[in-house]
Amino acid sequence: MFFRGGVMKITQKVEQEINRQINAELYSAYLYLSMSAWFEGKNLSGFAHWMRVQAKEEEAHALKLYHYLFNRGGQVELEAIQKPKKQWSSALEVFEEAYKHEQKVTGLINNLVDVACSQSDKATEQFLTWFIDEQVEEEASADQIVQKLKLVKDSSTGLLMLDNNLGARKEE
Ligand code: FEO
Repeated sequence: MFFRGGVMKITQKVEQEINRQINAELYSAYLYLSMSAWFEGKNLSGFAHWMRVQAKEEEAHALKLYHYLFNRGGQVELEAIQKPKKQWSSALEVFEEAYKHEQKVTGLINNLVDVACSQSDKATEQFLTWFIDEQVEEEASADQIVQKLKLVKDSSTGLLMLDNNLGARKEE
């Protein structure tokens, strides 16, 4: 059997799925920015800052995929970004939703790996391992804040302390 050298050209199927993931990451950025705006409105500037940093991270995830597509000779096709929700009833509800959203994103990444695998696209499979690791962190950090908010319950002192804490998040 003859094996051709070099990285294979990306298949249409993988290209389409990566474009879909770019959209999902940009939607994540939009959702977190909307959550940030909600916190701003509640004068919880630390929470708002945390969400803004998160939104930037999501944009970076989208760009990582964007550059990867180019490196593989693929075409980037940007689609409309869905309008995010803008109203929540509490900080806990916001973070519970962020956690659920991250679980959904993990599912999308896993699906993307399956597609790459079905197309025998080893390079994409390898590239996606970074996202798999990142999702473990993303889920854990959102869940950690959910658990803290559950501890804080209705204590405004606790909420302000947490606000202070989250305000110290550094950009990566
Ligand atoms: Fe890009 Fe929060 O996953």
